Amino acid sequence: MAGTRPGAGLAPGAVGKRKRKLQRKGGSMTDQQPGNIIDDIIDDHREFEQLFAQIKSGDPRTRSEVVEHVIAEIVRHAIAEEQYIYPVAREVLPNGDELVEHEIAEHSEAEEVMKEIEKTDTNDPKYGELVEEFIADIRHHIEDEESKLLPQLRDACPRERLQELSETFQRAKNLAPTRPHPLAPDRPPANRILGPGAGLVDRVRDALSGRNA
Ligand SMILES: [Fe+2]
Ligand SMILES: [Fe+2]
Repeated sequence: MAGTRPGAGLAPGAVGKRKRKLQRKGGSMTDQQPGNIIDDIIDDHREFEQLFAQIKSGDPRTRSEVVEHVIAEIVRHAIAEEQYIYPVAREVLPNGDELVEHEIAEHSEAEEVMKEIEKTDTNDPKYGELVEEFIADIRHHIEDEESKLLPQLRDACPRERLQELSETFQRAKNLAPTRPHPLAPDRPPANRILGPGAGLVDRVRDALSGRNA
């Protein structure tokens, strides 16, 4: 499937998180802990929850832009998980393959709903139903990861490895383009912003995974 290969990008929604990461890694060397990938993933999940709350209660005039923002954020989160956390889960957890297959199937299901959203006019009543379905799917998936895969991985994987993976996870995510949050004060440079509309899911996936077919 055709996809553009936009340039590297940073997430506008990740500003707070980047600050937290810097604080964790920051210079004091006494009270700061390096990041680890489990906390990175949970940070992302909390950010998605905030965006879902904005979609449900926010201004309908900006709703579709927030939806596009969260779709781009979730796709790059999911791909980074698939590249860096799921392979480790397969390697170190006795039931890793089973857990990971389940999570990947949920990613695929959510992506199908996201692609339906892309194709649906925002004035179509179906649009709201799809957004509800998408939010419910992602909430379920987050609960699944946080109750099973992530705690098991935290116990099974050496801390140093989780810290190294944090660096890789952040770097990979930052290579992906993004859609700006309509109300965010910080916006990424224009050449990192994906255009709106159809193909958003595929364009983020192409940019992050190197897929180009
Ligand atoms: Fe996931
Ligand atoms: Fe996740």
